[in-house]
Amino acid sequence: MGNVICVGGQWGDEGKGKMVDILSERCDMVVRFQGGNNAGHTLVVDGVRTVLHLIPSGVLHPKTTCVIASGVVIDPEVLLQEIDTLKSRDLMRDDSQLVISPLCHIIFPYHKKLDFARERALGKQMIGTTGRGIGPAYEDRVGRRGIRLFELINADRIANRLRDAALYANTILHALGSEPLTGYEIEGMIDRAVNHGKKLKPFMGNAQELIYDAMQNKKNILFEGAQGALLDLDHGTYPYVTSSHCVAGHAMAGSGVGFTSPYQVMMVTKAYATRVGSGPFMTELKDELGDLLRQRGSEFGATTGRPRRCGWLDLVALRYACRIHGTTQLAITKLDILAGMDKLQVCIAYEIDGKRTENFLWDSEKLNEVTPIYEEMPGFGELPLRGSFVDLPISAQNYLNKIVEFTGVPLGAVSLGPERGQEIWLHEPF
Ligand code: IMP
Repeated sequence: MGNVICVGGQWGDEGKGKMVDILSERCDMVVRFQGGNNAGHTLVVDGVRTVLHLIPSGVLHPKTTCVIASGVVIDPEVLLQEIDTLKSRDLMRDDSQLVISPLCHIIFPYHKKLDFARERALGKQMIGTTGRGIGPAYEDRVGRRGIRLFELINADRIANRLRDAALYANTILHALGSEPLTGYEIEGMIDRAVNHGKKLKPFMGNAQELIYDAMQNKKNILFEGAQGALLDLDHGTYPYVTSSHCVAGHAMAGSGVGFTSPYQVMMVTKAYATRVGSGPFMTELKDELGDLLRQRGSEFGATTGRPRRCGWLDLVALRYACRIHGTTQLAITKLDILAGMDKLQVCIAYEIDGKRTENFLWDSEKLNEVTPIYEEMPGFGELPLRGSFVDLPISAQNYLNKIVEFTGVPLGAVSLGPERGQEIWLHEPF
């Protein structure tokens, strides 16, 4: 029995989906606790690629209960489409596989409009959001004017709430110089919301109680994080962050349970670094090496298709991420993408204002000014697809050992390819 929180150690897109998919086989329940359809988990099973944005990757295992807990913001249109796709591929055979907390806040069309309007108003300072309305939906939640899932099943209530919400959104849209919603659009939105409520009602369930009971009954529970440490609202590269807390500690608040049994934190990180959207990226490669990583690693956003910025592994940022997550083991993905490169660089310190520091900086403007200090490491040739740690070339072992040594966190797994089974396990967290 046990609880494992699986989180990202960089700016998202670390390959958490694959690790969660594998771990799900060994667990009874997978809980998504933050974020929304800004996330995108790409899973490859028997050569078939499935991209999930909201439903936990564990859904591919019929015996695993998947829970979308109250910390998640839901776009009902996207969720229903995901359910339909999974059913049409025979990947979700039973509705009881998915339980959604009625307390989840809902993303409406005006949230997406506001997301675009805010970005446009920011001009060059834009965050580079996914445009999915995530920030505005979380803002409404914190502003105590958000609308929650259970409200969709009461037609009169939702009509009143949405008319008020649209009025409020229109005031801001107007101030930002964007087109407000028309009366026709508002009425259409209400009709769709009622319809979504009917379709989602069978999936609504008391998520807190379900997770609590599973914990009491000593089940294996996996808490699936989205995005990554450096996109955390408080602890990331603010303001170039997402609007939720991506740190492992938020697994409790976002799912509505206090942990009464021990847990492990598995932090997933790529063997190099990527980032989508704007904001500091200390080890970014803006040259052909960056292009090579993008091409070899298929570094294009699973949600927006945007090309990801690519760079060397930043150990300073990674150690910081390990600490804010309380990481108990690392999962290093995409090591295979580095195979064949002559020399590798890892960032071991920053130079800022003429001084060297091994500490992460909290001011994004300062992070933009740092010069990374690299340690060069020999590259390695082709890697096996599976096996054990000692089957890896010595220089690949040294590269992994360097990460372990710098962060002080043991290695749990290394992923050597996108498919299930293409990995080496050193410590299984369950
Ligand atoms: P938002 O979450 O759409 O508001 O976007 C805020 C920032 O987080 C932008 O830089 C996005 O590119 C980034 N972001 C949000 N979700 C993900 C993700 O799942 N992977 C990578 N970046 C993300």
